[in-house]
Amino acid sequence: MTGIISSGEKRLVVVSGRAYPELAEAVAKELKTELLPTTAYDFANGEIYVRFNESVRGADAFVIQSYTQDLNKWLVEQLIMVDALKRASAKRITVVAPSYPYARQDKKHQGREPISARLVADLFKTAGADRIMSVDLHASQSQGFFNGPLDHLYAMPVLVDYVKTRVGADKDKITVVSPDAGRVRVAEKWANRLGGCSLAFVHKTRDTTKPNHAVANRVVGEVEGKHCVLVDDMIDTGGTIAEAVKVLLASGAADVIVAATHGILSDPATQRLSECGAREVVVTNTLPIEGSKRFDKLTVLSIAPLLARAIKEVFDDGSVTSLFDGPVA
Ligand code: R5P
Repeated sequence: MTGIISSGEKRLVVVSGRAYPELAEAVAKELKTELLPTTAYDFANGEIYVRFNESVRGADAFVIQSYTQDLNKWLVEQLIMVDALKRASAKRITVVAPSYPYARQDKKHQGREPISARLVADLFKTAGADRIMSVDLHASQSQGFFNGPLDHLYAMPVLVDYVKTRVGADKDKITVVSPDAGRVRVAEKWANRLGGCSLAFVHKTRDTTKPNHAVANRVVGEVEGKHCVLVDDMIDTGGTIAEAVKVLLASGAADVIVAATHGILSDPATQRLSECGAREVVVTNTLPIEGSKRFDKLTVLSIAPLLARAIKEVFDDGSVTSLFDGPVA
């Protein structure tokens, strides 16, 4: 039987959707277990079939899915998996969505828009999820969309540990930069973690009638001669980051390292990022990054150890907060 049995006779079971099983396998390996064998396929008309090949009765089940291309399909698949677990008498079901689908649609910018991130939370609840685990939600307060526990993990410690090896320890030579005014608080946490270095942000404007259209106007803060660490939650088409890198270099930055949690990297991100002048672009693997999206200056860090530690804390009724030395966002 697959799973981890605790001394208290609880059983931890990890199941994976088909979007990015490699990440789920890495998480299971960290937990020293294996994924529960699962059958999943598509019918000719696109409907999805799922069945777990072993009993999950009484299990503490964690359902991992990544929201890569075709994310609407992967959302339905994760919902169906939760439903199957509930109907098979799993004791507790946790949706593990390292990158939360529709996270950017967390409020109405104009009349007659949906709040899709809330709708997704409602769908998970209706399917039977008892809790959600996610990494770096676009807006922290979206936690409240789910009526139940939501473990909000932060990739910052993983990214900071790496970035420190690239920018050195002299805080006077480093500036953390937010690519827009909305993320200055997160950048401030980064600056604290980098020893109290200075802070800047890029004044960005956006045409909300066009998707992924951002213009970086100017830098607010001192960046001349500094190693700039440009931090964001996600890189989608790379427009925001590439524009910000160019403005920073034009303002006299010594160099720019980009650090972001979710590397969506939709076209033309690879081209934009490799040509924008950044010294390095660092992301985690909350999403799969295929070979065609990779480029010389891209570094991908594994989020699997963090997810595994958080899953173990939840299973053991331990503390997820303890993984972060207090709040980081
Ligand atoms: C915006 O608020 C987000 O934090 C990202 O900066 C943005 O969604 C990235 O999109 P793109 O890479 O297409 O500019």
